[in-house]
Amino acid sequence: MAVANKARLVVLASGNGSNFQAIIDACESARLDAEMVLLVVNRPDAYALERAQKHGIPSSLIDHKDYPDRESFDAALAKTIDEARPDWIIMAGFMRILTDGFVERFRGRLINIHPSLLPKYPGMNTHARALEAGDLKHGATVHFVTPTVDAGPPIVQGRLEILDNDDVESLKQRIHGVEHRLYPLAIDWLVKGKIDFERAQKQTRPAAVDASGTLIVPTPP
Ligand code: GRF
Repeated sequence: MAVANKARLVVLASGNGSNFQAIIDACESARLDAEMVLLVVNRPDAYALERAQKHGIPSSLIDHKDYPDRESFDAALAKTIDEARPDWIIMAGFMRILTDGFVERFRGRLINIHPSLLPKYPGMNTHARALEAGDLKHGATVHFVTPTVDAGPPIVQGRLEILDNDDVESLKQRIHGVEHRLYPLAIDWLVKGKIDFERAQKQTRPAAVDASGTLIVPTPP
């Protein structure tokens, strides 16, 4: 397929960007029929910027500290995103609460990855909360973004068993491994039209893969 026909991805990140890296790798190895057109970060020290540079991906820093309120930051962010003409806007560790207006503007094209089996543990410290609760399973969820944080329709979950000797650090690392397989898979499904916002809303049980990436709950037919 010609480059011009590839799905255009914009990634929003605030920090390390290991999920951004996993998506870059999937694009470069053609496992994902998509093109990374822009990285946007809101922090000048985000390591994701170096990853973009290394791979020749354009990047833009929109520092939230330069804006008086959420509305003006989100307006600048939306303008930058629109200029890149993305098909999908991918939040990968983007540590900003977005205004309802921003989320509605990109509804159905804006996705996020969260380190828990949503609806369990929205918000922070998900690994510690899963361990404290004595859960047997933990995981990550890729979902469409809606105005309520971490509550939009799930696209796919990656599940793993919590081990007896897991602590927050080991669990975090293993969840990252799951995320790096899960995010490219979810984007592949979106690009191929296997799932969209409406179908995701109708899933009574989110599609899911296990820690090895094997599909254990399929997408709706
Ligand atoms: C991931 O755990 C993701 O689920 C959460 O933020 C973290 C980002 O990690 N939203 P990285 O920057 O992609 O390494």
